Amino acid sequence: MRNLYLPHLTTIKTLVKENPDTWTFELEFQDPGLRDSFSFRPGQFGLLSAFGAGESTLTLASGSLRRGSLDVTFRRIGRVTGALAILNEGETVGFRGPYGNRFPMESFRGKNLLFIAGGIGLPAVTSVLYDALENRGDYGTMTILYGARSSRDLVYKKQISEWEKRPDVNMVKTVDPWGVSEGWDGMVGLVPAVLEQINPPAKNAAVIMCGPPVMIKFSLQTLEKLGFSSEQVYLTLENKMKCGLGKCGRCNIGDIYICKEGPVYTAAEIQKMFPDF
Ligand SMILES: Cc1cc2nc3c(=O)[nH]c(=O)nc-3n(C[C@H](O)[C@H](O)[C@H](O)COP(=O)(O)OP(=O)(O)OC[C@H]3O[C@@H](n4cnc5c(N)ncnc54)[C@H](O)[C@@H]3O)c2cc1C
Ligand code: FES
Repeated sequence: MRNLYLPHLTTIKTLVKENPDTWTFELEFQDPGLRDSFSFRPGQFGLLSAFGAGESTLTLASGSLRRGSLDVTFRRIGRVTGALAILNEGETVGFRGPYGNRFPMESFRGKNLLFIAGGIGLPAVTSVLYDALENRGDYGTMTILYGARSSRDLVYKKQISEWEKRPDVNMVKTVDPWGVSEGWDGMVGLVPAVLEQINPPAKNAAVIMCGPPVMIKFSLQTLEKLGFSSEQVYLTLENKMKCGLGKCGRCNIGDIYICKEGPVYTAAEIQKMFPDF
């Protein structure tokens, strides 16, 4: 039986430096069989290893319908992400996964989708976004509200300009009031404030959200004010993880293992797990 902790070898096929601290790798499995057979569901994550440094938990950021390669986007914050950040195209990294639960795409069908993301939270929701765009006719309106501290900090600038061109996507980008630079053509304001300004209708909507805790906290309050229920809001929890397999006890809250049962929850479920949320 294959060792559960043994990573598959992947090659960095392309590398994009998104901003001074953030990189996207397009990874290709070195085993040709896996290139064809690997699949995952939107919201799942993998463990990426920089050999000699360790493993990092990263959300699978490409569409789940794509075959042959997958994308991950990471911010350099410590030991492993620092070691990943100095790699080049053509180099090898380890990958194990996919792990965790998923966004319920089937219950999003026919609904108006509202994506709310802040900073490095955007890659955590793009697998849902790409899958919905692949089957655009299955969904109602699509609004993407994405905020970053400054225009320099935005990730996925190329994708954002493509979404801005689509008549069937309402792309709203914003930067913090103190992060505006010359030539900025988006909105100015924190995500919860801009959310209130754009005032999306709550009826028949599903919200898919990821971002820093403070953004989530105030966006949830704004959503409530706009008439959204906590059952309509889906979030992904980025608790610290190590094994990803429900074995090490690093990610649990009480007897709930986020790596196995999460990381995707509705706001209603999270409020039950953390009454102070
Ligand atoms: C389900 C899930 C999905 C994730 N998806 C992404 C993603 O797509 N892109 C991305 O950039 N990051 C993501 N993260 C966070 C990422 O796993 C960590 O940033 C990374 O593992 C840090 O590794 P490191 O060795 O570089 O940092 P370390 O050297 O381990 O830590 C540096 C500092 O960051 C803190 N830290 C480390 N991990 C976390 C964490 N998960 N939450 C809060 N603080 C932390 C440490 O306490 C320390 O202060 C995700 C985490 C989870 C659990
Ligand atoms: S990460 Fe080890 S139990 Fe969840």
